[in-house]
Formats: sequence, structure tokens, C-alpha cells
Amino acid sequence: MRPIALSVNGTRHELDVEPRELLVYVLRERLGLTGTNVGCDTSSCGSCTVLLDGESVKSCTVLGVQADGAEITTIEGLAGSAGLHPVQQAFHDHHALQCGYCTPGMVMAAVSLIASGEAKDEESIRRGLEGNLCRCTGYHNIVEAVAAAAGKA
Ligand code: FES
Ligand code: FES
Repeated sequence: MRPIALSVNGTRHELDVEPRELLVYVLRERLGLTGTNVGCDTSSCGSCTVLLDGESVKSCTVLGVQADGAEITTIEGLAGSAGLHPVQQAFHDHHALQCGYCTPGMVMAAVSLIASGEAKDEESIRRGLEGNLCRCTGYHNIVEAVAAAAGKA
């Protein structure tokens, strides 16, 4: 076991992890943050996306030990005291989800995409989200929601 310390949604955690333990399982099983989903385990679907030091990563591709010292934001940390994060609100307003399984990862990827300034138009949004798969919505409403949150609608 290896000791690590990481900040998750503003709270510092110190814990011992196995060197093979993936960040997504540290979040879900050690910290109880089950909003981060596992859709594939093959780094294909993006449902495990979180922010690591502000950048979106698929947390099934990161070892817990690699996150030592990092600041992580999960879907649980996105809404503030004023209510939903603008991207969450836009997903709600544009009916950008059905089953919701992909939604936490899609929202986290969109937050990072918008923050990077790369959510410029429909094409760049579709390109920016191509690592996140949705089985339900056909992407149209998701792209509309992200464009609205980016002020490009
Ligand atoms: S569970 Fe990580 S990409 Fe699918
Ligand atoms: S809303 Fe069901 S997988 Fe995207």
C-alpha cells in the first residue's frame, strides 16, 4: 500500500492505496463519490471523466498514486451554494440527457472544454466531446447545451 493525499471537491483526503488502484475506484469506493461512473473500463466511454488540476481526465486511465497531491473535482463538487453549475443548468434546460449514465462525465468534459476556450462552435464542441459516448440522446441536445453554456448558442 502507498500513502497518498489528494484534495477532492475542496476536501483533503489522506489514504493508503494499492499501486494498481485506479483513481475512479478511489473516488467511488474509498470516498463514496459514485457520481463518477464506470461505463467501459477500457478508456473508451468518458463516463469516468473528472477534473484533475483543472483538466478533464478519464479517471479509469489514472492510477490513484498518480493523483497524489492533485486537486480533483467530481460532479458532486460542481454545484455551488447558488445552485447548479451553468453547464449542469444548460443540460437541464436543453434536455441533454435521458438515462444520465454518461452525464457526469459529459458535464465535466464540457466544463473543461469551455474553460479552455475551445467550445467555439458546433464542430469544435463535437470534436471536444468525442471521447465521451452517450447511448441515448444522439448528441444533438448535448451539443446545444454545451453551446448555450459557452455562450455560443
Ligand atoms: S469508464 Fe473510463 S472511459 Fe469508460
Ligand atoms: S443519457 Fe444515457 S448514456 Fe447518455
